[in-house]
Amino acid sequence: MVCLGNICRSPLAEGILKSKAKNLNLTVDSAGTANYHIGKNPDIRSIEIAKKHGIDIKNQIARQFTKHDFKNFDVIYAMDKQNYYDIIQKASSDFDKKKVKLILNEINSNIDSVPDPYYGGENGFNKVYEMLDKACEKIIFDFE
Ligand code: 4NP
Repeated sequence: MVCLGNICRSPLAEGILKSKAKNLNLTVDSAGTANYHIGKNPDIRSIEIAKKHGIDIKNQIARQFTKHDFKNFDVIYAMDKQNYYDIIQKASSDFDKKKVKLILNEINSNIDSVPDPYYGGENGFNKVYEMLDKACEKIIFDFE
């Protein structure tokens, strides 16, 4: 799960997917394309919305996406189009590029990017949660 800062959207996506994948042999992780927040815990607003849904993400630690992630993961979900292009830039083969997907393409969504909630209010986080919950439900449904 990859966004820009790895403190708002992708930590939530990681927490939600992990919570749905409990009995499955899946390795779920998240990262940011930017380096601004490396080493930080998620934004308090993401922690709170996750907690409201019974998911604990407070101990996640932000890291930056690297080209090694292409070796370690089969699928890489980008939260938005800019993340998608930034990840593709780090790919070294068509095989790697094919691993990268826009997470909202998993569901019937009228938008293709999960809006960045960082500069908005709490409702932005609610919306992000709902979108990611739907997308993760579909990811698990297809995996099973
Ligand atoms: P994220 O949100 O990409 O969902 O983690 C952001 C967090 C921080 C910034 C931008 C987006 N920032 O500019 O610091």
